[in-house]
Amino acid sequence: MTTHITISKRAQALTSSAIREILKVTERPEVISFAGGLPSPATFPIERMKQATDKVFAECPHAALQYGPTEGFTPLREWIAARHSKNGVTIRPSQVLVVTGSQQALDLLGKVLIDEGSKVLVETPSYLGALQAYSLFQPAFSAMETDEQGIVTDALTPEKLAGARFMYCLPNFQNPTGRRMPLERRQELVRKATEAGVLVVEDDPYGELSYQGEQLPSLLSMNPDNVVYMGSFSKVLAPGLRLGYIIAPEALLGKLVQAKQAADLHTPSFSQRIVYEALQDNFLDQHIPKIRELYSQQCNLMLDALDKYFPAQAKWNRPAGGMFIWVTLPAGIDTGVLLQQAIEQHVAFVPGAPFYATAPQTNTLRLSFVTVPAEKIESGMKTLGALVTAAVAANSAETTTA
Ligand SMILES: Cc1ncc(COP(=O)(O)O)c(C=O)c1O
Repeated sequence: MTTHITISKRAQALTSSAIREILKVTERPEVISFAGGLPSPATFPIERMKQATDKVFAECPHAALQYGPTEGFTPLREWIAARHSKNGVTIRPSQVLVVTGSQQALDLLGKVLIDEGSKVLVETPSYLGALQAYSLFQPAFSAMETDEQGIVTDALTPEKLAGARFMYCLPNFQNPTGRRMPLERRQELVRKATEAGVLVVEDDPYGELSYQGEQLPSLLSMNPDNVVYMGSFSKVLAPGLRLGYIIAPEALLGKLVQAKQAADLHTPSFSQRIVYEALQDNFLDQHIPKIRELYSQQCNLMLDALDKYFPAQAKWNRPAGGMFIWVTLPAGIDTGVLLQQAIEQHVAFVPGAPFYATAPQTNTLRLSFVTVPAEKIESGMKTLGALVTAAVAANSAETTTA
């Protein structure tokens, strides 16, 4: 008898991430891709990782190759708790769960917090990987309004917040928009969420990448009893390590640990121990400024190219950190169509539509300025600028005739 494979309803609803699909096309060497959110390989601390690996093999090879606790390697949990114990807040190591990239944190949170139809508040637009991870659990997404300063806290009315399982927030150099929420909004957001009894989920892989080095207090620091924080080593060390963490109130952490046990038992002991060694002697404090400097230079190059090659009808932000610029074109232009034309001319970006949980704005796009080397940014943006200029002209001709 032929085997009949029945895919679960949950999995039937799955689609591939639009970005992963685009990345397949853009892997061709002739394509200048502003699409992927990949950190610049020039920032990977290869020597440091090699030394740390040698040390782990010399000092604890058996433990590094053995199974470990689900919660994570205790000294690494202590390091994470200490790093986040600031602004008058103390984080205990028992509040920390090490995960296999913060993407796993999104999946675990979905598993333990979302039932079919649960209301989940997300920014509009929001991180596509989170929308994808949560979607498996079939929530009812409710979009939170945003502007140039992130979530519009005035729009967080009691009705908007009522009954939400959690609110998913990216206060620092948001993916995809590169926006950062100012202090007053952060305070207002945490205050309103706490009053309404809505859990805040703070996803923060880019917070350390502020070009001027100044950091705003995390939502976590404003009320650790009502905020779940997700951190990652992907953007400050290397993403291939697949190392991230969740800081959560202990009651929730226990459930996350159980869900993680079922998923992968634990995050590799090997990468946890290597990263722990690499972090010693305040390594990040020497290393991160180099990443900030490179990204800030590349960001400026892209902003200069936008000023030079993009038409006045296109609008974009000037990020103070992170990896992305968000561009809005006149209404009527579909950046999905524009992408096809761009790929023919060997340039790529990510169309904005997949970043919206509801009501996609098809005239938006995300540009990443960190992966493409400086010398290619100008030529890629020149090609893209010409395409956008032509699309804007065609669109206004159509609008005038219509
Ligand atoms: C906002 C956001 N959250 C989470 C992730 C996942 O990061 P990782 O799993 O590498 O820690 C990313 C990756 O780009 C991201 O942009």
